[in-house]
Amino acid sequence: MPPITLPPHIASLPPYTPIEPFDVLSQKVGRAPEDIIKLDANENPYGMSPRAREALANLAYGHIYPDPESRSLRAALSQFTGVPAENLVVGAGADELIDLIMRVTLNPGDTVLNCPPTFGMYAFDADLNNAKVINVPRKSDFSVDMDGILDAAEKFSPKLIFLTSPNNPDGSLIPQPVLQKLLALPALIVLDEAYIEFSGVTSQITNVPSTNNLIVLRTFSKLAGLAGLRVGYGAFPAWLMPTLWKAKQPYNVNVAASVAAVAALNDPDYLAWTVKTLVAERNHLAEALSTFRWLKVYPSHANFLLCRVAPGIEAAQLKADLAQKHGIFIRYFNKPGLTDCIRVSVGKPDQTDALIAALSSYRVEG
Ligand SMILES: Cc1ncc(COP(=O)(O)O)c(C=O)c1O
Repeated sequence: MPPITLPPHIASLPPYTPIEPFDVLSQKVGRAPEDIIKLDANENPYGMSPRAREALANLAYGHIYPDPESRSLRAALSQFTGVPAENLVVGAGADELIDLIMRVTLNPGDTVLNCPPTFGMYAFDADLNNAKVINVPRKSDFSVDMDGILDAAEKFSPKLIFLTSPNNPDGSLIPQPVLQKLLALPALIVLDEAYIEFSGVTSQITNVPSTNNLIVLRTFSKLAGLAGLRVGYGAFPAWLMPTLWKAKQPYNVNVAASVAAVAALNDPDYLAWTVKTLVAERNHLAEALSTFRWLKVYPSHANFLLCRVAPGIEAAQLKADLAQKHGIFIRYFNKPGLTDCIRVSVGKPDQTDALIAALSSYRVEG
């Protein structure tokens, strides 16, 4: 018997399904890590800038606690984004900031509006924070259901509305007029732009200081290839900043992450090359996947592609086969709106070739 009773909202949390790193995958399928093609978590296959590697190799202050205000990184981010440092908070990934936002804004039972299918952490953190999640499902083309959101907003008065542009897992964008309509609601809009750099669309981040109810989240995990170091950031309206500073874990961004992130921002050529290369490869991958009659490839503005697998091929089995027989890891979803769907991150050209070769052995009769 446990000596204490856990709060019911914690005891009833659904189990978390993590995406696993190379060494764990390597053991699972009995292949060397270098023989694994990891296309399941939208990581950057080219990794971090050489400048970031060098900065890590020369790390001077690993034995000293980091700056609780991440001043160097926020100054560099201010240059990079055009947002004053006073409006920026850095976190151990955008993930930490999603949780922080909820912790400082929600009372138990408050409502969070979510538009699934989308990134799972909004619902996960809402559960963790004892909030009520109101789901307004996206339409079949993954655009948000504006009427549904307006109805739900009126009925449930959500404090927070989470939007993702480009959306994970399909890569669709939130059109500007939709965002404008949502900003007119009496709620705090959290716009997650984790993949914005791959879209060619201008970020909303510079609008944050002049918009009382807009938060924009971004990350170093995708563009800058720092997913393993856990560093993301957000722009917040001025009124929320003092509360965030009070509530944030003091040493949330470690010195290695901070130093690598500053170095990454100091290598704009590498960032631009990454975007150009991955966007070109996304288009190549989309074309190659579209040649399979049994795959419907959705248009994507991010570094991944969502595909629906036609009847006759079991998507879950396809995922398992790719892993076991070919060492290729992709994401499979079994959720409302995503039945028979797989998501493939954009890799290097030889990884695309390996995936396409593996898929070529599949046929649907008729
Ligand atoms: C939409 C979205 N937001 C945030 C994140 C997490 O970002 P971070 O690695 O900075 O925590 C992800 C990661 O997959 C994502 O897809």
